[in-house]
Amino acid sequence: MTSDGRPTECFVYLTLPGQTTAVTAGRFVLSDAHHGTPVGRFIYGKTYLARPDAVELDPVELKLATRTYETTGLGGVFGALRDAGPDHWGRRVIERHAGQGSLGELDFLLQSPDDRAGALGFGLNQTPPAPRRRFNQTLDLEKLQSLADAILAGEALPTNAEADQIEELLLLGTSMGGARPKAVVEDRHGLWLAKFNRADDRWNQARVEHAMLLLARSCGITTAESRVVSVAGREVLLVKRFDREKTQDGYLRARMVSGLTLLGGGDSPVDRTRWSYVQLAEELRRVSERPGADAAELFRRMCFNALISNLDDHPRNHAVIATGRTWKLSPAYDLTPSTPISLERRDLAMSIGDQGRFANADNLLSQCARFLLDPRQAQSLLKKLEKRVEATWYEVARRAGVTERDCEAISGAFAYPGFRL
Ligand SMILES: Nc1ncnc2c1ncn2[C@@H]1O[C@H](COP(=O)(O)OP(=O)(O)OP(=O)(O)O)[C@@H](O)[C@H]1O
Ligand SMILES: [Mg+2]
Repeated sequence: MTSDGRPTECFVYLTLPGQTTAVTAGRFVLSDAHHGTPVGRFIYGKTYLARPDAVELDPVELKLATRTYETTGLGGVFGALRDAGPDHWGRRVIERHAGQGSLGELDFLLQSPDDRAGALGFGLNQTPPAPRRRFNQTLDLEKLQSLADAILAGEALPTNAEADQIEELLLLGTSMGGARPKAVVEDRHGLWLAKFNRADDRWNQARVEHAMLLLARSCGITTAESRVVSVAGREVLLVKRFDREKTQDGYLRARMVSGLTLLGGGDSPVDRTRWSYVQLAEELRRVSERPGADAAELFRRMCFNALISNLDDHPRNHAVIATGRTWKLSPAYDLTPSTPISLERRDLAMSIGDQGRFANADNLLSQCARFLLDPRQAQSLLKKLEKRVEATWYEVARRAGVTERDCEAISGAFAYPGFRL
């Protein structure tokens, strides 16, 4: 504890493959958390390491070993732990919930509820808590949506008893990353990430994102399952959690680590200049149980993002998961088109090839060998994707319920002129 009573260390829990309850995997200590340069230390517990079924927290940084791992990157928080913590939206909700006063990285991990992405959990007790049995239900979406609206608008939240209960509901889900307002809800099939539309969206985001997931799937890309539901006259996108599987005994959890952690970086402006699909492909080939298939799949996703002008394809929008001991690329998620004014040059969020981030066919093909594809294969793959996106985006979007007006609004996203410049 610091002198002001704030925690500086916590236990890290992990739900092992095939299990529905967590065990204690190790201890995380954040020194100088509130003054100076924070240093994070992680050590696996002896009892954990002695288990025959022990698994690593991540495939790059925290291998199973008796040693003290140390980091000064990312405010002292290891990538795998940061991936299990809240991001912009969740931090916003937690800050509102916790009231005034600046919260440290450890506070965010400890305050966020236990429906976080992946298989990790955090707490101050050596023994992990029992897994949560109750989740928000899809029926609660209306309440969740109106609370998300109030938080977005910076409105005061009501302080009566029901509001407390609502706020508790809203907190569930804040440990998921990302910037858009969201919550986690359950139905009889399992857990879903609910993404709410915002008043300032230029089109019905829920329908459009759903359509892009369907379009990607029709292009042979493995995607998260999704559907759109109507809540109090507005639409909400539900994306099925691929890191959870409902069983009779509770939820199985897959470990999950972001592309950002695989790249070993942060998201400062300097770090951003090093974000690269080519590098991500190399890392993926190193950690994946199926390197060739995953490298080709990453290539397809990169080409698809260029073809739909998904310029928000930052490394946290890619992940690897492990349902058993080994890791593989997760299904694709968060696919959103954009329509910048420029028709000649659009840039993805990560470097693609010899011409940097330029979303262009020649650039996409320039480093195909690093995705384990020969030029002929890569060219044919790209051509097929291009044809399919161009020929079918409209029909797929309309079938997914995107209105004529919204189709018009997003039409400039697909196979923009600069793609073949
Ligand atoms: N289907 C899913 N199953 C499990 N985890 C998911 C799923 N979809 C998204 N996630 C996790 O939740 C995070 C937030 O989701 P998503 O990227 O869709 O939200 P967002 O707010 O649109 O993000 P951004 O800030 O990139 O725009 C992702 O970074 C990923 O870690
Ligand atoms: Mg995202």
